[in-house]
Amino acid sequence: MKTNLHKTAHSRTMIVAGVMSGTSADGINVALVRMGVKGYPREGNFGFELLGHSEQGYPKQVREAILAAMNATQVSVANLARLNFLLGELYADAVLRAQKKFGVKVDLIGCHGQTIYHQGEAAKYLGYRVAPTWQTGEGAVIAARTAAPVVADFRPADMAAGGKGAPLVPFLDYALFRHPKIFRIAQNIGGIANLSAIPAGAAAEQVIAFDSGPGNMVIDAVTEKLLGLGYDKDGKIAATGKAHDGVVQKLLRGKFFRARPPKTAGREEFGREFVQAFLASCGRIPKQDIVATATALTAHSIATAIGRFVLPPVSPQRKILPPREMILAGGGAKNRTLVAMLARELDRVNVRLRFSDEFGLPSTAKEAVAFAVLAYETWHRRPSNLPSATGAKRPAVLGKISYP
Ligand SMILES: Nc1ncnc2c1ncn2[C@@H]1O[C@H](COP(=O)(O)OP(=O)(O)O)[C@@H](O)[C@H]1O
Ligand SMILES: [Mg+2]
Repeated sequence: MKTNLHKTAHSRTMIVAGVMSGTSADGINVALVRMGVKGYPREGNFGFELLGHSEQGYPKQVREAILAAMNATQVSVANLARLNFLLGELYADAVLRAQKKFGVKVDLIGCHGQTIYHQGEAAKYLGYRVAPTWQTGEGAVIAARTAAPVVADFRPADMAAGGKGAPLVPFLDYALFRHPKIFRIAQNIGGIANLSAIPAGAAAEQVIAFDSGPGNMVIDAVTEKLLGLGYDKDGKIAATGKAHDGVVQKLLRGKFFRARPPKTAGREEFGREFVQAFLASCGRIPKQDIVATATALTAHSIATAIGRFVLPPVSPQRKILPPREMILAGGGAKNRTLVAMLARELDRVNVRLRFSDEFGLPSTAKEAVAFAVLAYETWHRRPSNLPSATGAKRPAVLGKISYP
């Protein structure tokens, strides 16, 4: 009898929607995941099945409002409140559409929300030291519209436990990509580029994870400013330009790149002000060279971070190294020029470049899947931050739950 009960509890699966909207503010990614499946995927041991994923751009005026809120030194409180509820509606709509498209009904939703402010490091405010973060997109609205419980607002619990509130995806990376014999780096290139380094046979506490610097954020900003294009599709513009190495090397001497991990970045580091300084450093060079230089900055900053903070020093006696792989995901994986630059850099340090897609996890769905997994953990009251990644003093159950 007891055995039967045990069996039922384990065979119960749950369909979870992960909803991701990153610092690029390009739109909403939804992944529908069946959780609690045994034996999938093969590489890791998480036990889930990706049922489908979809992507929905933000309406232009919404994207502009989000970017304005992120970059603002002053913004109307009423508009921030409105944006919170409006995004709740848009996230709910994205989930409802995904449900319809893939013919399923979700049991739970994990929604990251849109970060409008993140300060991983405590600083003085009104005489006190605080480290705040703010993701907007009202969970109660999503729950009401979709009739499913929603876990949202994942980052504050980690920060309350002394962490930087980011990165959170390493929890999934470790579960999926750890390997007994291969040193693996799971690299995501969203607005910001972040990585989880998982040494061969590593325990969860040995995972190193941090933001390496800009992902697409600087590239997007310069294509927008110079050419009126939201991004450099497939890296075609950068492919026609020449990267100016001097500019890249100069920028890599900046404070963020030199700082030791754990470290996190956002528009606070690589937003408008950084882009102005970047353009000033480029001076009067052709526009396509500027785009190529921004692309090279991302590729080099990733490779430099890996060399400085991730790869173990090679001893001359040890000629045979464990194989090393980078598993790439995020919208930046679609930028061919960026991928080619990165592959070249990685080749020098004997790291083979692979794509998340090869592991059954489409590049553009990975982060959304991560938030489905995190929500599932929270639903079961299990912690899902990796203290080694965020710097938290303890594991924490992440997020806040809204019930329909
Ligand atoms: N086909 C493509 N070619 C080049 N860049 C792309 C392509 N598709 C997406 N991107 C880049 O990826 C970004 C979105 O990546 P995403 O992983 O959604 O980031 P975020 O999590 O910050 O929203 C876009 O802003 C764009 O710069
Ligand atoms: Mg996005």
